[in-house]
Amino acid sequence: MKMTVHTRQRDYDIEIAHGLLQRVSAFVEPDRRVFILSEDGVPECWRNLLADQFPGAGMFVFPQGEASKNMDTLQDILARMLEHHLTRGDLVLALGGGVTGDLSGLAASLYMRGIDWVSLPTTMLAMVDSSIGGKTAVDFHHLKNSIGTFWQPSLVLIDPDALRTLCPRLLSEGLAEAVKTGMIRDPELFALFESDAYQDHLDEIIWRSLRVKKDIVEADEREGGLRKLLNFGHTFGHAYEELGQGRYLHGECVAMGMMTILENKELKKRLAAVLDRLHLPQSCTVEPAALYRCIESDKKTGHETITIVQVEEMGKGTLETWSLEKMKRKCGL
Ligand SMILES: NC(=O)c1ccc[n+]([C@@H]2O[C@H](COP(=O)([O-])OP(=O)(O)OC[C@H]3O[C@@H](n4cnc5c(N)ncnc54)[C@H](O)[C@@H]3O)[C@@H](O)[C@H]2O)c1
Ligand SMILES: [Zn+2]
Repeated sequence: MKMTVHTRQRDYDIEIAHGLLQRVSAFVEPDRRVFILSEDGVPECWRNLLADQFPGAGMFVFPQGEASKNMDTLQDILARMLEHHLTRGDLVLALGGGVTGDLSGLAASLYMRGIDWVSLPTTMLAMVDSSIGGKTAVDFHHLKNSIGTFWQPSLVLIDPDALRTLCPRLLSEGLAEAVKTGMIRDPELFALFESDAYQDHLDEIIWRSLRVKKDIVEADEREGGLRKLLNFGHTFGHAYEELGQGRYLHGECVAMGMMTILENKELKKRLAAVLDRLHLPQSCTVEPAALYRCIESDKKTGHETITIVQVEEMGKGTLETWSLEKMKRKCGL
């Protein structure tokens, strides 16, 4: 399966196929030097597949986890790229989840004012969401994703075989983003989760999620409006993530955030059944004042109002402007 994303920065292909990680070299011009970026939580078998195809390539493997998504790791990566004498015509291969993609994309955008990078997502979250769209970032001064760029990959290769080594919890948290995508834009995608056999449809789930994200990114490359729809569940989700202090994964927080914000009773029932099936949490006990403080300080908050995403009809997300008073009440104050 293949689709092309059209952006002002560049057009690039997304390929989804089993076994793709074994033939990445077929997509790289032979005279191009390659630098592989990954982290130590990605099972070695996937890294070895790349190393075998690019024997002369440089490689830097940083420690896994969100704690690595910072300026120090970024500097380490850039230093290794310089040591490897990478030029602007060379290529970065980013093998890993969202953390690897965000860091590698940012490094690629800065190195020599920007070199090409190929995204090789290995988590469900990266496959259905973070691998396309060109948002890159590190966390800085305790603010998540506060320093970053828009730098589109030159190619995205998705090999669902990589999911074989992913634990069920990580699989589910990634699928939470696909559930979100279904709710805001694709009723058939959501319906796939309403059958017990959703595991048999993972390729289609990835494909449909990316198709929606592609359409939205193409229409709104730099998050002027439409792209905000992708933040469904994220207003409360980000707050739960911060207040949970590492207890919950991002997708789990999005799941709880969707349940908190969703007002339509019928849809809420359907969403709850799907989250149940995916073993995702549905509610988070937090202190109302702390919750409100978190949401108010979120960088997307305006002065007296806040824009949230609501779903009144399956597959039709809309932006709503809420007064801070309304938000306070929603937080339980
Ligand atoms: N750029 C974007 O548009 C965008 C969108 C959503 C999320 N994000 C970012 O993505 C990050 C979260 O991504 P994530 O959930 O992929 O986290 P992650 O990259 O930390 O990966 C989660 C864990 O899975 C392990 N792992 C990776 N691939 C594996 C595999 N095939 N088998 C077994 N284990 C594997 C990793 O080592 C890690 O421990 C956050 O930093 C978030 O801000 C970015
Ligand atoms: Zn998200």
